[in-house]
Amino acid sequence: MATILVESVSKRYGTHLVLDNFSLRIEHGECFTLLGPSGCGKTVLLRLIAGFETPDSGSIRIGETVVAKADNGVHLPPERRGLGVVFQDYAVWPHLSVFDNVAYPLKLAGLPKQAVRDRVLESVALVNMTGLENRLPSELSGGQQQRVALARALVARPALLLLDEPLSNLDANLREEMRFEIKELQRKLDITVLYVTHDQEIALALSDRLAILDENGTLRQTGTPLEIFERPADLFVFSFMGVANLLPARGEGDACLVGRQSLPVQPGACPDGARRLAGFRPSDVRIDRENRDDTPCLRGTVRRASFLGPVMDYLVEVDGSTLRVSVDTHEALDRGRVFRDGEPCVLRFHNLHWFDAPDAAKAPPAGKSPLADVAAAKGAGA
Ligand SMILES: Nc1ncnc2c1ncn2[C@@H]1O[C@H](COP(=O)(O)OP(=O)(O)OP(=O)(O)O)[C@@H](O)[C@H]1O
Ligand SMILES: [Mg+2]
Repeated sequence: MATILVESVSKRYGTHLVLDNFSLRIEHGECFTLLGPSGCGKTVLLRLIAGFETPDSGSIRIGETVVAKADNGVHLPPERRGLGVVFQDYAVWPHLSVFDNVAYPLKLAGLPKQAVRDRVLESVALVNMTGLENRLPSELSGGQQQRVALARALVARPALLLLDEPLSNLDANLREEMRFEIKELQRKLDITVLYVTHDQEIALALSDRLAILDENGTLRQTGTPLEIFERPADLFVFSFMGVANLLPARGEGDACLVGRQSLPVQPGACPDGARRLAGFRPSDVRIDRENRDDTPCLRGTVRRASFLGPVMDYLVEVDGSTLRVSVDTHEALDRGRVFRDGEPCVLRFHNLHWFDAPDAAKAPPAGKSPLADVAAAKGAGA
């Protein structure tokens, strides 16, 4: 059994407190992802679990074994924790063949030659590399090299596999292929996988459950991919999990106002006097030319129309806020939802998430779209 229990762990480098009283439980047989922005402490946590670092306080258990406990100095070395690790930059050894790379941990452990051979061939087959055992890493593609690293991590038959951004150097197609393979390996071998990444798409595709960390290393939410996506615990999680539109709204009497327009909302979402943010994804909006059936909607203007292949992507201005709206291209063509820059439109919303508006002191400067803030924070990928 490889349940992982991290209890009240803190880790500091100099004056920088990277993890503060951090707790997490990962069940046996789960594919669990730690997702958070760059520098939030994901690798540090993985290194603590693997045994390459020691916690300043708190304890870590793998299965029934306490592998680290700060207050009585317990520290099991990595090789005795029953785990395999693949680090992004811990590539394979260039001067060793595939066979020798994979065999390395077993030779280190002093296994007899025949057992080493059997296990290496088994592990190489697991990652679909049979027949390439004599190649050098320089004769392999990037994806094949990562498979060698995976085979090496699995060769000692660990109950727990730790993966730190192992796919980030691969191109998009290969990344997709490899993440399915990792998932399949995890099921086939019935092992626990802890995967660390800042890539939301990989995390959603791969995980049974995931944990979202913010930039301070604070755990914001744990849940299944669907739970996290559909019921984000807070504004950080919502904004981090994909392109986020944020529409400032205020309650006035029974109405919820966006600028001078009234936004149709469920009762209680925007009470009288409240300042709130309505959050939604580009695909949560329906865009039309006119309000055909007189149902409540917001009126806006298309400021930028982009054709992205499968979807049409629109930037729509609504009372000073800029919103991103996407429409399936076929639907746009079939239903007359192809807009040009400057055309008026009406918007209806499928799915609004409500957040308290940040303090005035922290609010974006007047005239600046909250979307712009999110996009800037997430970089070009937003
Ligand atoms: N050995 C170390 N000495 C000093 N500071 C460190 C050390 N290791 C990590 N840090 C600091 O701890 C913080 C967290 O680092 P960590 O490598 O865990 O980030 P990360 O979440 O893995 O980021 P990324 O997604 O970029 O890999 C960073 O500010 C980093 O500079
Ligand atoms: Mg890292």
